[in-house]
Amino acid sequence: MRADLFLVPGPVGEQRLAGKTLVHIDVLRASTTICQALKSGARAVIPVAEPGEAAELRSKIGNDNSVLGGERDGVKIENFDLGNSPLEYTEDKVKGKTVILTTSNGTRGYNRSGGAKLILTGALVNISAVAKKVFQAGNDLVILCAGQDGDFSIEDTLCGGMILHKILTDDKVDMELNDSASLALLLYRTNSRALKQTIARGEHGRFLKKLGFEEDVELATEIDALPVLPALKDSRLALDSD
Ligand code: MLT
Repeated sequence: MRADLFLVPGPVGEQRLAGKTLVHIDVLRASTTICQALKSGARAVIPVAEPGEAAELRSKIGNDNSVLGGERDGVKIENFDLGNSPLEYTEDKVKGKTVILTTSNGTRGYNRSGGAKLILTGALVNISAVAKKVFQAGNDLVILCAGQDGDFSIEDTLCGGMILHKILTDDKVDMELNDSASLALLLYRTNSRALKQTIARGEHGRFLKKLGFEEDVELATEIDALPVLPALKDSRLALDSD
């Protein structure tokens, strides 16, 4: 199996994704929020890039059937129902509803999924489910880290490295890695005993703490706390059914 990891978002190109499994990672916090929303019974999460696009989609779906969620600069967007704290996505708020989610970085990558055969949301809270599915699907793998405003982020890279480690170690798959994937694997292997601390001390961990979202960081770094598998079909993320 070949695995290419991208540390920062950028144009990957449909050819490079053709026939592959693609995993989008934004540990803090979009991927974690998506997992929590589906775990709480949301019918689907639709990731969109811009707040205006989200509001337009909402008016098509209707207020009763949908929840509008998202953040800019870490805080809830004005007139939205929810922000981007996974802890807000409780059953009473989202069960049976379609969540339309827009975040600064994490939801943007999904429209760069063209050509991929299987598109998944990866986080630390669902990492074993993701690694298992990647192995079972057997396709070559592309991991896209959302990063932060075009820059590398330590939590997404650690998560990507841990997915690779699990497939290499648990499933004994021989993998050909690009250099960013090797770097992510090395980073994970040298930090595996201190993931929580490393992530909490990272730029986005510190930023969220300053905003009062320390509990989000705590949840987002709980391995397998939300063992769901969000898969993208027709621009909607829903629980994988294959
Ligand atoms: C993002 O998409 O940049 C993040 O999810 C931001 C956040 O922590 O809310």
